[in-house]
Amino acid sequence: MNKIAVIGCGGFIGVHLVERLLELGYEVDGWDLDDHRLAMIRNHAQFHFHHTDYSSAHEIDDISSHQIVIHLAALCNPSLYNTQDELVISSNFMQPATLVQACVHKGSWLIFFSTCEVYGRTLHGHAETAGVPFTNELQRDQIDLLREDSPILLGSTEARRWSYASAKQLLERYLIGLAGYPNFRWTVVRPFNFLGPAMDFIPGIDGEGLPRVMACFMHALLNNQPLSLVDGGKNRRCFTWIGDAVEAIVAILEHPEKARNQCFNIGNPQNEIDMRGLAERMCVLYTQITGKTAPGMVSVSSAEFYGAGYEDSDRRLPDVSKALRLLGWKPHTSLDITLQRTVKWFLDKYQEHS
Ligand code: UGA
Repeated sequence: MNKIAVIGCGGFIGVHLVERLLELGYEVDGWDLDDHRLAMIRNHAQFHFHHTDYSSAHEIDDISSHQIVIHLAALCNPSLYNTQDELVISSNFMQPATLVQACVHKGSWLIFFSTCEVYGRTLHGHAETAGVPFTNELQRDQIDLLREDSPILLGSTEARRWSYASAKQLLERYLIGLAGYPNFRWTVVRPFNFLGPAMDFIPGIDGEGLPRVMACFMHALLNNQPLSLVDGGKNRRCFTWIGDAVEAIVAILEHPEKARNQCFNIGNPQNEIDMRGLAERMCVLYTQITGKTAPGMVSVSSAEFYGAGYEDSDRRLPDVSKALRLLGWKPHTSLDITLQRTVKWFLDKYQEHS
């Protein structure tokens, strides 16, 4: 059980995970089309990089021959969900489903990265959209808390934003449906907004398009432009330090029986903040680190920012007690520290380009 296949090893989560696995003595076979984050580990003797698409029959056969397969590859950028939903569904459901079939056939353990977005919106979010907001604020946290078996509240099929959540959800359901194959086992991880160095890209420097919120705000800071608050920045997220998240995967690997055919929320409920608050904190950090005045903020509608058909998760508050109970894992890193480390990393890497 010392050799692991990691699909999407060159992405943000992938590089941090592979680095840690190598440190722990695992041998890693990694697949990715993107290698620009891999410089630090590329020549490690225990790391074998396959610079190719994982979905050809030959690669799938090779990958599924590993006893442990970690699947991270995803088109997980919200700007694509309502504009390129066909691609989002094929890459997040159809391609991994082919891999699942091969893993069933070979009897491998598949650790599949799903998303916190499968929960969609909270009951409060739905009520607000329907124009009948809940008034009982006292019970709000209890109702909003997302357990692995909480109901899923997505928008209509016409609301294209939910293409990604639906694809991931269907893959999860497919895995559950395969319970009759005793040699095959799976574990599902639902990540809640991991943050850290090497996350996404800065448009115009090492990528094109619209990255996720951290890189969008950093792009604005680096270019002295106002930070865009989508719909006023009212939606909330719980940000999780990437190092804590990686330890959750290590805990899964160390508890194969307890993690067998289980789904885990991996997130930090202590680190909840709305996007306006995040922008404010990042502006303060920017000034502390650079000595420069931060630009202001501007509110933009989601239709303007992402295009028509965009709907948002209002809040994602994870219950992580299952990971503690079964794996002994809990997050430790505060939002302050997570942001300090991440903003500093972005400034060190990109400031010379601004
Ligand atoms: C994305 C993916 O869709 C999830 O599946 C994934 O689990 C998650 O990232 C993650 O990082 O774990 P989301 O949190 O909606 O989900 O992605 P972001 O683009 O980071 O957006 C967070 C919030 O910031 C949203 O409300 C968005 O509208 C807002 N935002 C984004 C801004 O206010 N300004 C910006 O410039 C960019």
